[in-house]
Amino acid sequence: MKPIDSDALQSSADALREQLGNPTPSTAAILGSGWGAAIDDWTLLQTVPYDRIPVLGPAAVKGHAGALHLADTGNGTCLVFQGRRHRYGCSSWEPVIFPAFLAHALGAETLLITNAAGGIRANLKPGDLMVIDDHINAMGTNPLPGPHRPELGPRFPDLTRLYTPELRTQLDAVATERGIALAHGIYVAVSGPSYETPAEVRAYASMGADAVGMSTVPEAIMASALGLKVAGLSCITNRAAAIGNEALSHDEVIAVTRVATPSMRQLVSAFIGRVGVSPADSE
Ligand code: HPA
Repeated sequence: MKPIDSDALQSSADALREQLGNPTPSTAAILGSGWGAAIDDWTLLQTVPYDRIPVLGPAAVKGHAGALHLADTGNGTCLVFQGRRHRYGCSSWEPVIFPAFLAHALGAETLLITNAAGGIRANLKPGDLMVIDDHINAMGTNPLPGPHRPELGPRFPDLTRLYTPELRTQLDAVATERGIALAHGIYVAVSGPSYETPAEVRAYASMGADAVGMSTVPEAIMASALGLKVAGLSCITNRAAAIGNEALSHDEVIAVTRVATPSMRQLVSAFIGRVGVSPADSE
């Protein structure tokens, strides 16, 4: 795959900044498969469909609305990507990592990334929500190779604290306050679009993975390289291949996320509301 065209990212970000009237979001969120309803009760200030954003293009996967919003969270503004572009659906990296790039370009400090994932660890059941503590990149690729472009961060980004520990603590705090059960685990990202074979799932289990999915890692790497704080949440929608007996299907993935929608809604709203307040605002 070609190296990222950072000039194309920059001109699209500049055009959106102008179109949206110089917004100053403090937070950003990428709502993946089945997570779109998490913001159903939010106050949306502005909306731009992805197909009107040249770098993004339409989100073609069911369960992904494909709309960029600016939302008023009550405590600030959040840049919301309702739907994502996956690596497997794109012929270049720009659509995949544009949300992280734009969040950084508009000055957001925190990016929440959500997804649907298959549960590998035995006690993760469909409908469970999991905080991503760390990831294993089994996509066989990374968005950052190619000649170094300093505007995309350091040549060798340090990912030691990629999923920011303080944000994981905040997720636990808001979940406890609302009585929402929250698991923690390691997310392994595969390129997709085929689901995994049983042998692959056994291999990922022995590597220490708790859940598997086809997204999140490229955006998380890009956001972290740009200096954003990153939080990740998975909705476990199925048991990964051969961990359960069920056949795997995207329709099932979307159906299960509906069960978890009330918890997603509370968690996302409370978390974004809390981290969107800068210390100066809350004094
Ligand atoms: N594997 C990969 N991606 C997924 C899965 C899975 O089992 N479930 C939801 N997204």
